[in-house]
Amino acid sequence: MTEPKDPNGEFESVLAYLKESRGFDFTGYKRSSLMRRVRRRMSQIGIDNYTEYIDQLQVNSEEFVSLFNTILINVTGFFRDPDAWDYLREHVLPGLLAERSPEEPIRVWSAGCAGGQEAYSLAMLFADAIGIDAFRQRVKIYATDVDDEALGQARPRPTRPPRSRGSTRGSWSSTSSCRAAGTASARTCAAR
Ligand SMILES: C[S@@+](CC[C@H](N)C(=O)[O-])C[C@H]1O[C@@H](n2cnc3c(N)ncnc32)[C@H](O)[C@@H]1O
Repeated sequence: MTEPKDPNGEFESVLAYLKESRGFDFTGYKRSSLMRRVRRRMSQIGIDNYTEYIDQLQVNSEEFVSLFNTILINVTGFFRDPDAWDYLREHVLPGLLAERSPEEPIRVWSAGCAGGQEAYSLAMLFADAIGIDAFRQRVKIYATDVDDEALGQARPRPTRPPRSRGSTRGSWSSTSSCRAAGTASARTCAAR
């Protein structure tokens, strides 16, 4: 697939505009997929150059919402990317637990939690590792997402969690007791 190009830096101007006008900094995102998504949105509204698209963003405040929804893809799932979860369970968690006393609190952050499945997967992982009682006492899981709609789905416990125990390749056990536990801010929820 050909990578989108930006020889005159016009695409960077779109990003700069979004940062200045909306305070949202997309500059750290992978350029190729970001450009493809912006171009997809532009083609949906029949615009084919970035300067004209900045004009559109300026005159139509709804356009930012549509662009935002095109850029931020909320795909998620329990234990999405099983290899990463297995690595976390087998190599990260043991060290993390070993360097703390058994009473010490543990705080975990799912930074882009989408519909909440990642936060609940973390809860399952920790509950399986230390037991449900210790989990309740020690672990607090923070979950944030820039997308309020996604957070709206994350706040209540997600339905249909996976079954099985012990492996992150689809396990559901002690976390049946997980619940959304209040909101620290409009963009934050915590599962514990
Ligand atoms: C592809 S989803 C992945 C969800 C989850 N982390 C997982 O792996 O299942 C990416 C999520 O990150 C969120 N996101 C993207 N940029 C963000 C940012 N700067 N701050 C917070 N959330 C962000 C999106 O809204 C989206 O819900």
